Amino acid sequence: MPNTVTLTDNRRGKSYDFNILDGTRGPSVVDISSFYSDTGMFTYDNGYTSTASCNSSITYIDGDKGELRYRGIEIEELAKSKSYLEVCYLLLNDAMPNELQTKEFDLELRHRSFLNEGLAQLFRAFPAGSHPMATLTAATAALSTFHFNHLELCKESEYQRMARRIVAKMPTIAAFAYRQSIGACFIQPDITKSYTENFLYMMRAYPGGKMHIDLDGERVIKEIEIKALDTIFTLHADHEQNASTTSVRNVASTGAHPYVAISAGVSALWGRAHGGANESVIKQLEMIGSVENVDAFIARAKDPDDEFRLMGFGHRVYKNFDPRAKVLKELQVQLQDELKLDSNLMKIARKIEEIALSDEYFVSRKLYPNIDFYSGIILTALQIPTSMFTPVFVIGRTVGWITQWIEFKKGKGMKIARPRQLYLGK
Ligand code: ACO
Repeated sequence: MPNTVTLTDNRRGKSYDFNILDGTRGPSVVDISSFYSDTGMFTYDNGYTSTASCNSSITYIDGDKGELRYRGIEIEELAKSKSYLEVCYLLLNDAMPNELQTKEFDLELRHRSFLNEGLAQLFRAFPAGSHPMATLTAATAALSTFHFNHLELCKESEYQRMARRIVAKMPTIAAFAYRQSIGACFIQPDITKSYTENFLYMMRAYPGGKMHIDLDGERVIKEIEIKALDTIFTLHADHEQNASTTSVRNVASTGAHPYVAISAGVSALWGRAHGGANESVIKQLEMIGSVENVDAFIARAKDPDDEFRLMGFGHRVYKNFDPRAKVLKELQVQLQDELKLDSNLMKIARKIEEIALSDEYFVSRKLYPNIDFYSGIILTALQIPTSMFTPVFVIGRTVGWITQWIEFKKGKGMKIARPRQLYLGK
């Protein structure tokens, strides 16, 4: 049987053959790169629901089964048994680090976590009350002015340096963006602290590095808090060719600086159809207010004339439970007592989940809870303010974006991203 798809243009009575390319997992693709030159027509795929924009060997999703793998390893296994930094190393190097490599990687990131004083000054220019995501987008782009020799980048060691630098600095940029937004002084990273602990420390500490003091004494950052946030970072580390990653690759395709490409990813992530959903979920749960009100909001979500959507539900790729959501749901239960998770919000969330998983509207559209549905309640218990939910997503995802950027740069025959259109104007 020929390894092709035949398409017939019934208007002209002509048929065209296109090659089928097989991946190592998942659906095959039809190579339509010669479609325009063969047929004189473009393909049309609003929202890219049927389009593979690149080939990649980083992350695999089976949306029907609810499966997610980084470099071939299932997310459940990574979340359970590996640290976020080990996962970063895995994504960047396509291999799990040994003990020494983990230690070296960790130390390098600690030393790279500081910001140039000039960049730190930039935060002062933004008005108090600005959203940390806006500041984060600008500061990430501004980082390119301090490391501008990207055009000469071609060696693996240089790619890795670019990557390690931005992964190391992102928690500091995010924490500075937050502290600027509330008019608080910046807390410098502490190299004696791990990656994840450092972020919590830079968010929470008082001038001089002291933590909050109450009648029981100084409130230290608990090991269980560090572990929970570390898992959240791992679950966000990469997610194939989503809107923000596609933005990163599109900018990369023009030859622009990698940190500017990442800044485009941060911008794309901010929207509430994407990473901004985690902030919207918690606001929505608070707006619903009590279990008694859930039915009314479910009815609104189902009403085709109402723009209201249930935040944290539905996904372009997952037509089954988002596996990351499953891990977070279990984590919520584990943390419930220890971190005093908001039981009212949890009750509302459970009721929504219960109804949605059995209601015909949601079942027939395969709308399951996604990662954002569960992360907010945990982040609130970790004393992360709502405006920082999406920046937390950014910190976790930066490694994925830069790994995808490196893959793009090293790929053969990569072209500038330049789609066409169906023209309907005059
Ligand atoms: N609440 C109610 N109805 C929904 C929801 C929802 N959350 N999501 C989708 N639908 C309905 C749509 O109205 C549509 O119904 P219709 O066929 O009767 O018109 C159908 O389900 C299909 O929805 P689309 O918008 O076409 O699906 P798409 O794949 O384009 O969108 C998206 C996916 C953007 C995630 C969507 O489900 C949504 O807006 N969800 C809420 C926001 C959210 O949680 N985003 C986070 C995604 S995960 C992430 O980025 C990390």
